[in-house]
Amino acid sequence: MVLPLFLLALIPICASALPTQDVLRTPSTRPLVIWHGLGDSHSSPGMLEFQSLIKDIHPGIFIHSVFIDQDLKEDQRAGFYGNVDEQIDFVALQLANITELGHGFDAIGFSQGGQFLRAYVERYNSPPIHNLVTFGSQHMGIADLPLCKPYDVLCRLAGNAARAGVYRPWAQEHLVQAQYFRDPAQLPAYLASNHFLASINNELPEARNSSYAKRLTTLEHLVLVIFAQDKTVVPKESAWFGSYAVPEDEDDEDDTIVPMKAQPLYEEDWIGLRQLDERGAVVLDSCDGEHMQMTTDCWEPLVKLYVGGTM
Ligand SMILES: *[C@@H]1O[C@H](CO)[C@@H](O)[C@H](O)[C@H]1NC(C)=O
Ligand SMILES: *[C@@H]1O[C@H](CO)[C@@H](O)[C@H](O)[C@H]1NC(C)=O
Repeated sequence: MVLPLFLLALIPICASALPTQDVLRTPSTRPLVIWHGLGDSHSSPGMLEFQSLIKDIHPGIFIHSVFIDQDLKEDQRAGFYGNVDEQIDFVALQLANITELGHGFDAIGFSQGGQFLRAYVERYNSPPIHNLVTFGSQHMGIADLPLCKPYDVLCRLAGNAARAGVYRPWAQEHLVQAQYFRDPAQLPAYLASNHFLASINNELPEARNSSYAKRLTTLEHLVLVIFAQDKTVVPKESAWFGSYAVPEDEDDEDDTIVPMKAQPLYEEDWIGLRQLDERGAVVLDSCDGEHMQMTTDCWEPLVKLYVGGTM
């Protein structure tokens, strides 16, 4: 019979043209990685609750909460003390080692966790992040040290130590906040000593790394959320790549805010931010309230839009 033969003959062709197993997978929800903020840990009650709320919205989603140390106290401590470059390296290994993330993921960074995830994108992005949402992050650093809650001893100790010599080598090696401290009134000192923020923002012309921009522009969306009444991050506009202006005279201060689009980083597109923005991929969003006041109104629409897509 002709027909069965014809069909048989087709089989090897089909087999060789068969899509790989990847394509044959049933569509599943894209996983999510979250990176907690300062003073928090990977599995604090707040972080666990947030994960369970996301699972209510996107049933079955795989969520990984980034840690520097499995131990909660040590993990919290690592938000204040440590070398950020090494922490990013450590997290890149951690993420590459998680099977569920192998095909890429979305990510949410809380406060400093946001610029750390951006550093991951620029320096590694393997596996890749699709949508990156950052809440109240310090993308242009902080020009003053975060206010500590009265009972937050660890924060106060780190703050005092950092304030005492924020650009000294010891602080730049060991105090996390010093590594994204960027005071426009002391820009030369910052550029000379900072190895983290100045690097991921590609601020040093001689050390500019074009891979950073190449990787950042692969994001589907970069969602930057500011807290409208944020008094902890100085200036709060850092969440939107804003910073204080560089004063005309050194030792002066200028509290004019230079918005994202007027930053040299954007105008000359040192990190691919402008390219992303011109593609419509940079989303500036605003939440009411003080730093990290995560009301449902604030996070839920974003989690519905940018998390839980199918892959
Ligand atoms: C990779 O995962 C294995 C098994 O979960 C674990 O034992 C190992 O420590 C991980 N390595 C890194 C670098 O995280
Ligand atoms: C740029 O960054 C990548 C990833 O972090 C690194 O491997 C590479 O050596 C850097 N290139 C330069 C010229 O510094």
